[in-house]
Amino acid sequence: MVSRVIPVDPFDLVIFGGTGDLARRKILPGLYRRFWSGQVTDKARIIGASRKEMSDQEYRAFVQEAIREFAIEGGQDDARIEAFLKLLHYVPIDATGESGWKELRKRMRQDVIRAFNFSVGPNLFGDLAERLHKHKIASNDCRIVVEKPFGHDLASAKALNATLARYFDETQIYRIDHYLGKETVQNLMAVRFGNILFEPLWNAQYVDHIQITVAETVGVGGRGAYYDKSGAMRDMMQNHLMQLLCLIAMEPPHRFEPDAVRDEKLKVIRALDPVGNGDIVRGQYAGAEGIDSYVSDVGDDDSLTESFIAMKLHLSNWRWKGTPFYLRTGKRLKARASEIAVVFKDPPHSIFGEQEDRRGNVLVIRLQPNEGMNLRVTIKEPGPGGMRLVEVPLDMSFAEALGPGAAAVPDAYERLIMDVIRGNQTLFMRGDEVEAAWAWTDPLIEGWAKRGDRPRTYQPGSAGPEEALVLLYREGRRWREIAE
Ligand SMILES: NC(=O)c1ccc[n+]([C@@H]2O[C@H](COP(=O)([O-])OP(=O)(O)OC[C@H]3O[C@@H](n4cnc5c(N)ncnc54)[C@H](OP(=O)(O)O)[C@@H]3O)[C@@H](O)[C@H]2O)c1
Repeated sequence: MVSRVIPVDPFDLVIFGGTGDLARRKILPGLYRRFWSGQVTDKARIIGASRKEMSDQEYRAFVQEAIREFAIEGGQDDARIEAFLKLLHYVPIDATGESGWKELRKRMRQDVIRAFNFSVGPNLFGDLAERLHKHKIASNDCRIVVEKPFGHDLASAKALNATLARYFDETQIYRIDHYLGKETVQNLMAVRFGNILFEPLWNAQYVDHIQITVAETVGVGGRGAYYDKSGAMRDMMQNHLMQLLCLIAMEPPHRFEPDAVRDEKLKVIRALDPVGNGDIVRGQYAGAEGIDSYVSDVGDDDSLTESFIAMKLHLSNWRWKGTPFYLRTGKRLKARASEIAVVFKDPPHSIFGEQEDRRGNVLVIRLQPNEGMNLRVTIKEPGPGGMRLVEVPLDMSFAEALGPGAAAVPDAYERLIMDVIRGNQTLFMRGDEVEAAWAWTDPLIEGWAKRGDRPRTYQPGSAGPEEALVLLYREGRRWREIAE
């Protein structure tokens, strides 16, 4: 299957924080890959901006190195890299000062799409927004892209929304949650709403429960100081897992359009029941041979921050009343694996009599690694020996299913940046969604702090604390294996 690449319109994209880690690892190599595929044309201009003094030439050398290191799938074609580097410029700017802005204004064109990626700490978002206006660089139809974390709690998210709203309309603000840019996540919507097969079964009558797992093998590493102020709840659950939950649980939007989709997602967050303490398990990884414990990684033996969290959630609406959603995420777990599993109920009556160890139908949506979907169905075990049933996977790896002519699955960032240029906000979080998620998160975090709740320890390389397993066992269910 050969897919068509439609070039985007000419644009000027300014990357504030253009020398930072995110720009180097994701944004710039991603833009190169889109250039390599023909989606970004030579009419584009990409302008790096940060405090460091650098010439255009030096910035191009910096980007060239980033492409060599990180753009493996996009092909290391010297001529193409050379052509891409010509799109790049650099302007030294301090977000909190006044120098550099005039120069930036001079470098930007009037007649193309303008986008500004705020790839800097959130404390600088307000400064950047204000100065883009003050120096008349922002236009009414320009776009700004803001990175996670969007606030630390409801109050800070509201303050951030209010600051941005002073200078930009909501239709200009693109809040990134890179999980939404993943091919599988969009495929989840294609599978749900593009087929008649699943939607009639997608409710409490037929779905026993849903599991969402985002597991990492790494610890907090060098981010210890930052992470300890955040924890798995703020860093992963409030945003990424909540967004996945919204997509899996939402009603069909009337069209695949930004506000139609985001309205439905918002309703899911608002339908969340309060979570009892007995339905949440928090954990901290212990140390092991050659592996530091969480508390030594963050340098605080008394830390009460969680590196793992599992919870059971319920939604109070017609579709899902009574179906539990089990969510878990953590660091230093068994494998790096992210997936959503929709576990269907058993047929109401088995005409084949009792079968041992039947596990029924499960639709697994794999986010990483090996993006794809897998539907477990029951068939007869081949050969003689009577009517014995076995479960087999109907597997659809995107890479295999679409064949060698298909476009490589783009990295989430790559796709999202192209959506910004196309002016499509569907896969970006709206301000009210973010606030609703914080409004749900805040009381839980405040409760732990008030009570001084201590996370359970778990062994590195495990599936998290035992208590997280019990969360399902006690209801006759079990988590899926965390496996690559
Ligand atoms: N790295 C990731 O994988 C990742 C993932 C998700 C979200 N994020 C978010 O993305 C943002 C950037 O993260 P990062 O990891 O790239 O951080 P980083 O490596 O620390 O880079 C920060 C960038 O901001 C620039 N900067 C700092 N202060 C500035 C100022 N006053 N004026 C202008 N530029 C300034 C820095 O360059 P100078 O020092 O030269 O000014 C640098 O280019 C953060 O909000 C982070 O939370 C990052």
